[in-house]
Parts: sequence; C-alpha cells; structure tokens
Amino acid sequence: MKEDSGPAAGPAIAVEGLHKSYGDVHAVNGVSFTVERGEFFGVLGPNGAGKTTLIEIMEGLRSADSGSVSVLGRSPWPRDTSLLPRIGVQTQASAFFVRLTAAEHLETVAALYGRDRKRARETLELVGLTDKAKTLVDDLSGGQKQRLAIASALTHEPELIFLDEPTAALDPQARRNLWEMLREIRTEGRTIVCTTHHMEEAESLCDRVAFVRAGEVIALDTPASLVRGLNAPTRVLIPTAQLTPEQAKGLEGADEVATEGLSTVITTRAVGRVLAAVGGLTELQDVQTRTATLEDVYLELTGTEYQA
Ligand SMILES: Nc1ncnc2c1ncn2[C@@H]1O[C@H](COP(=O)(O)OP(=O)(O)O)[C@@H](O)[C@H]1O
Ligand SMILES: [Mg+2]
Repeated sequence: MKEDSGPAAGPAIAVEGLHKSYGDVHAVNGVSFTVERGEFFGVLGPNGAGKTTLIEIMEGLRSADSGSVSVLGRSPWPRDTSLLPRIGVQTQASAFFVRLTAAEHLETVAALYGRDRKRARETLELVGLTDKAKTLVDDLSGGQKQRLAIASALTHEPELIFLDEPTAALDPQARRNLWEMLREIRTEGRTIVCTTHHMEEAESLCDRVAFVRAGEVIALDTPASLVRGLNAPTRVLIPTAQLTPEQAKGLEGADEVATEGLSTVITTRAVGRVLAAVGGLTELQDVQTRTATLEDVYLELTGTEYQA
C-alpha cells in the first residue's frame, strides 16, 4: 500500500525537535513546525541563522543530528528516491551543465524526470528566458542563471518546491516577474517553501512565515498577525509647507510630532481622527500614511540592522 495517496494525506512537511551542528556551530537548534499542503511558507532571518541548513535537511540533502522530518508523508533521510520526482529544489549555489545552452540544460533536466522538450520550453518561457534559449549557460548573467535554476526546480511540476533565496540576484523587474510566477504556481495547489531577505516579498507572497535566529524559530505566523502583534503606531506625513509641526501638535489624536526632511510627521494610534483633523486644515492629496510592515517585525525580532 502507498504510504501517501494524495492531498488529504496530512501536512506537506512536519519537522519535530530538529538539531544540526557543524562542529561547535549549532546551526539548527530544536526546530519544530508544520507546513500545510498548498501553503506558501517563508523562512526568514539574518545570514547564518540556519535557514539553508534547515531547508537542506527537508530536501534530504543533509541529515539531522536528531529530531524527525516528514516530507509528503515520507522521511527524506536516508535518501528516498521516490520523493525526487515529487519535490523541486533550487539551492543557494546552483550547478548547471556548463557546456549546454539554457534550453539544452533544461531539456536535460526535464528528460531526467521523463518530461519532454515541450515542457522544457514551457518552463523556459515561464521564467522569461525564451530569448536566451540558445545562450550557453556560462554566458548567462547572474539573474538569468538564477531564473534557470528556478526553472530547473519547476520543469517536472513537483508537488512541493523549495526555493533558497530565489530572488537574491534579480533586478526589481525580474523579481516582480518571479513573484507573479510564484503566485501562479501557488494557485495550482503546490506547496512552496522559500527563504528570502526581502520582507516586502515575504509579506506579499507567504501564507505564513517562520523567523529563524541562531538556529531557533523565534516567531511563526501569518505576516498580517505578526505585523498586528507589533501594535505599532501609524505615521502620518504631511508636507511642512502645508502643516507646520506647531499646528500638528495641537491636533486631536497626535501622539508625537517631528519633522523629517520636508515633512511634518505625526505618530498616532488614532489615524482616523488625525486624518479628519488634518483634512480640516489642508489638502489630503499630499498626505501619506505609513503603517508597520513585516520589515518592522524583522527589526523587532532579530534586533539586527535590516539588510535587503
Ligand atoms: N557545511 C558547513 N560546515 C560548517 N559550518 C556550516 C556549514 N554550513 C553552514 N554552516 C554554519 O552554520 C550556520 C548556519 O548556516 P546556514 O544554514 O547557511 O544559514 P543561513 O542560510 O540562514 O544563512 C552558520 O554559522 C554557518 O557558518
Ligand atoms: Mg542560506
């Protein structure tokens, strides 16, 4: 009998009490969580936090020292070849068949999984590399190589996809195209586990995120809940030419008033009242409001300088 027979068969991933050390470095220090099927799950945290180690254990590329891992109902270690066609892996350091063109590389990968050239071409199109089909892999730019690595993880249409900093080398346009693509893949019911340093990306793509610091999961929730949990005030920015700090100080609901560059900045927990009051004094057209984002959660949790 098959151990796992479809979508109803438990979570996509379950890790429990995971530990992994490299010599003195405790890279993963007692991690437990579950990723549901169809979920877009983010793993966030500073460099060296243990994200890649954690992902590679789930991928079956590394063994854990202790703890248990279940991926699509099976144990990825010792190596389980039946999992290979069901998962797609983009590692942080990708390898290619260097003497091949982009299309040939992808056709080779597709062939390994019993998929045809047509599917390889479709995947190339999906990551926006059709015009580079005939370019040698070695001659691709960093961002193009990264897209090819992602295509290599997707061409066999796996149920579960691991992406380790997929947008790291991409320019803003390529990054947005990739987000769009990942959103689409998600609507097909696939499960995605993704690490990133881009909080905006995580906030817009992930159903839930786990913040990792020094090998431990220090927070795990939906981006919205994590942001709400900060209970941070809203900042209202008005050009100082339209509203001076002195005027702002008298407004109902203003907790704090400061100037930043050419703006008067009101910090408030009653943004509706402040906007109503500001609206009575000046045009609201030039007024900006800033609420907390996942980046603020990152700063609060990791206590480190945010680096995109
Ligand atoms: N193969 C390895 N040998 C020794 N130490 C490693 C190895 N891989 C990672 N580390 C160490 O383990 C810690 C976690 O690394 P990693 O999992 O790559 O973190 P992240 O992906 O969050 O940057 C770091 O201190 C790193 O230096
Ligand atoms: Mg890493």
